[in-house]
Amino acid sequence: MTGEFYNMSTFDTYNYDVLVIGAGGAGLRAAIEAAANGVTVGLICKSLLGKAHTVMAEGGIAAALSNVDERDNWRVHFADTMRGGQYLNDWRMAELHAKEAPDRVRELEAWGALFDRTKDGRILQRNFGGHKYPRLAHVGDRTGLEMIRTLQDHCIYQDIEVHMECTIITILKDGERVAGAFGYEREKGQFKLFRAKAIVIATGGIGRAYKITSNSWEYTGDGHSLAYNAGAELMDMEFVQFHPTGMVWPPSVRGILVTEGVRGEGGILLNSEHKRFMFNEIPELYRQQTADNEEEGWRYTQGDKQAKRPPELLTRDHVARCIVREIREGRGSPHNGVYLDISWIKTKMANAADHIKKKLPSMYNQFKKLADIDITKEAMEVGPTTHYMMGGIRVHAETQMSTVPGLFAAGEAAAGLHGANRLGGNSLSDLLVFGKRAGEYAARFAKENTQGNIDDRQVEMIAKNALEPFDRTEGENPFQVQFDLQEVMQNLVGIVRHEQELLKAMQELEKLYDRFSKVRVIGNREYNNGWHTALDLQHLLTVSEAITRAAIERKESRGAHFREDHPEKDARAGNCNLIIVKGDDGQMVVKRVPVRDMPPDLKQIIEDMK
Ligand code: FUM
Repeated sequence: MTGEFYNMSTFDTYNYDVLVIGAGGAGLRAAIEAAANGVTVGLICKSLLGKAHTVMAEGGIAAALSNVDERDNWRVHFADTMRGGQYLNDWRMAELHAKEAPDRVRELEAWGALFDRTKDGRILQRNFGGHKYPRLAHVGDRTGLEMIRTLQDHCIYQDIEVHMECTIITILKDGERVAGAFGYEREKGQFKLFRAKAIVIATGGIGRAYKITSNSWEYTGDGHSLAYNAGAELMDMEFVQFHPTGMVWPPSVRGILVTEGVRGEGGILLNSEHKRFMFNEIPELYRQQTADNEEEGWRYTQGDKQAKRPPELLTRDHVARCIVREIREGRGSPHNGVYLDISWIKTKMANAADHIKKKLPSMYNQFKKLADIDITKEAMEVGPTTHYMMGGIRVHAETQMSTVPGLFAAGEAAAGLHGANRLGGNSLSDLLVFGKRAGEYAARFAKENTQGNIDDRQVEMIAKNALEPFDRTEGENPFQVQFDLQEVMQNLVGIVRHEQELLKAMQELEKLYDRFSKVRVIGNREYNNGWHTALDLQHLLTVSEAITRAAIERKESRGAHFREDHPEKDARAGNCNLIIVKGDDGQMVVKRVPVRDMPPDLKQIIEDMK
């Protein structure tokens, strides 16, 4: 590629007060709030507007509306979230989230979102893992989709400019603070320069670093890596959530999510011996609340307030590990999963098939069309799938600003709320609560600061580097490097971890960095997927290294991080967050930061809930 392709004058250039990178739930909510605060807003969407991992939070939005159980309130939601996160959560974020989620859900309803209803017409709420009371506001099993539809409808009537099929490759700075971002649009491969006073990163997760995932192609850790390279801190990167139930068969659909809503509606997990294996191991932290027999668990799902929860509704980290144990010990299903059965409720209900189709319409269609299984009559085959990243950009609890002035983050790209493990449904409420906050404070920052300068030569150099894979006359196919990276992460940094395997993963990552630096792409810049993958690889490698380094450093088992060689929780040394920063020599550095002391009133809530 000749110099004319990376000359500043050839780039499309845009100016905004606030640039939001990522147009899932968090990005849309941030953009809406920033626009409402009277600033100009640009919204970057890696694919088409409305296509976001938010839709994969199917089962509902967690918010203590107490429509189904009047005992629920923000305090219980706060305590559940902290316990689910094994107390590594940022307690202030958990407090704000529990307090503000109900208002955010009502606001969404006012903007046109549809929900299932209680008999007296209020928003219906269902049971989910780790939530003490039925708390998930939902519409069948399509809640995330309904949220995206509503936010998208609301967004297009605001003064927000949307850039679809646009990928950001670098955050630009003026000294310490952000000044803009640089990227390309997929269709023509044309570079785009965005000048901005403040930036909100809402790019979602990292699922594509793994082979089996519920995430689609966009989720390559872009925001985590962009922020890290801009000097921001990452936190809790060892905590990757493996959702217990993804499809396992046929191979082409492996990893697609099977909502926890199935278990919320009474679905049970069975091994090849037809045993409900979740009764075998109840963690101490949840023993008191968990049923020890089938009948009581069923009564709980039917709203009996005296009954205890079925063990299938324990937290995701635990359920995923129990499934892995069954498979490893030879009690798995034919395609390396276990069985999830909702059809059994026909022994309890006259109209079970209609009920299943009404409450779980997407699951019914998904299994019918993709696997030729009728879930009203047969069990599904399921296994863990990489679903969500608890770790992310370290932000200030109230403002969502990172350690880089003017750089904000919200949703899955930000860390803090979920600690060592996220409760299902807390992602949708997270992105509403903190998307709004990020938009509001980014707008405030933009109003209080002028536009920073952008260094033309730096931008031209970034463009030149981005085009380098076209210039190579030999080199590897980027898809092969991505494929091998996914194998390494899946096999060596997965659900069950061991020091030796983690160290081996680090060696493999070094080789992959080297191969990445030599990848070659052919063809031109228009819709060139090979080129896009080559550019995504730098992000995938950065997040994979961060996950692996943090996993080596945390020598205990807690939440989603399970070390076979350190199977117990270390209540003293483990009571810290791991922070990842870029050192002066460009190498990744892992630091331990003790968890902040909780104020007495919040401590008391946790004590009371015990
Ligand atoms: O299972 C689910 O519906 C996923 C929900 C979530 O990740 O919050």
